[in-house]
Amino acid sequence: MNADAPASLLYLAPSGQVGGAERCLLSLAAGLDRSRFRPAALVGSEGPLAALLREAGVDAEVAAMPPALRRISRYHANPGGRARWLPAVQAPAYLARLRRAGARRQPRLVHSNGLKMHVWSALLARGWGARLLWHLHDFPPPGNALRLLRGLSGRCDLAIANSQAVASAYAARAPHLETKLRVVPNGVAAEPLQAGEGRAFRARWGLGAEDFVVGMVAIFAPWKGQEVFLAAARQALAQAPGLRFLLVGDDIYDTAGHGGRRRELEARARELGLGAAVHFTGFCETIADAYAALDVLVHASTAPEPFGRTAIEAMAAGVPVIAAAAGGMLEVVEDGVCGRLTPPGDAAALARAMLELYADAGLRRRLAGNGRRRVAERFAEAAVARQVERLYEEMLAR
Ligand code: UDP
Ligand code: GLC
Repeated sequence: MNADAPASLLYLAPSGQVGGAERCLLSLAAGLDRSRFRPAALVGSEGPLAALLREAGVDAEVAAMPPALRRISRYHANPGGRARWLPAVQAPAYLARLRRAGARRQPRLVHSNGLKMHVWSALLARGWGARLLWHLHDFPPPGNALRLLRGLSGRCDLAIANSQAVASAYAARAPHLETKLRVVPNGVAAEPLQAGEGRAFRARWGLGAEDFVVGMVAIFAPWKGQEVFLAAARQALAQAPGLRFLLVGDDIYDTAGHGGRRRELEARARELGLGAAVHFTGFCETIADAYAALDVLVHASTAPEPFGRTAIEAMAAGVPVIAAAAGGMLEVVEDGVCGRLTPPGDAAALARAMLELYADAGLRRRLAGNGRRRVAERFAEAAVARQVERLYEEMLAR
């Protein structure tokens, strides 16, 4: 083997839908030094990710995870009856498919980008002759999934946690991983996020340049706190009837517990009498336009956010952020400097923060300026890619 040839990497992505973990992967792929690394990817379901990876120069193939395996999630009650055996029945054929698809790429290093892939990667990486990196994007799962990960953690060479909060949680709950953990935040490319078309985006919802628009950018997962946002919107509107609200996002994941939230949230908005003050935009592909349309970005997760890409994207775009003070968000947003932090689940505090920012253009400008600087200093795409490359090299040198 030519020692100077680029090292072949294999990314394993559990889902073809594009959430934060997938954006993180795309950002890494974009920033990667191709003279040193040649990336390929296996993607666990159809969806936009494979095409986006290909656009980013990654040799991506969809190796669809069978439905019963895909549906397993921390939100999912175990099925009863014969259905409970389906995952075990479907696993061997899927594993064989992954093994063949991976072997064709002859990876020297496997970068597993989500919980389910951590399991498969642990079973396959050695057979491919590859080092194994787990990218931990979430807090440790409960129950059997954690036991399984613990049991397999000896096969993982290094684990990236997207925040110190996630690293600490794993160190406490999966002690075998402790010495392998490295914290690397997400990176983001600021320039494209600063080039959004806010006017046209607003116009689609009947909003003009004079409207003050507060929005969330998040999938409709149960813990993202859209209900808290709606309750806060109600309270803030009572003081400032001119405020307008956008919920950017949709139900995207097909694991149980994620479906039907859009309808529930729309019904909630009607019950609260929010009327034309709130708009549901659906999933937005051109996220820079959404940020350009916002005066304030709200993050309202009711469970600790592992990292929170939406906050760094908003800060990069120059939009002041109000975020729920827990988990990795405490490492992303410094309260009063580049955003405001409010207690998770506290709609009254969120409403107060919305009104504070609404009333104070100077504060908004200061937070936005500091936010941009913070992204440039800590979350720049190229710098984060360099951090990950150094870890790849450390692993390959072993
Ligand atoms: N996102 C998007 N379109 C939407 C809503 C969200 O592209 O309509 C993206 C958003 O820009 C961000 C990601 O989804 O990159 C969400 O990442 P985050 O880390 O905030 O949360 P996650 O959903 O991964 O927990
Ligand atoms: C996960 C986490 C989110 C994080 C993203 C990228 O989706 O839920 O907080 O920003 O991964 O690391």
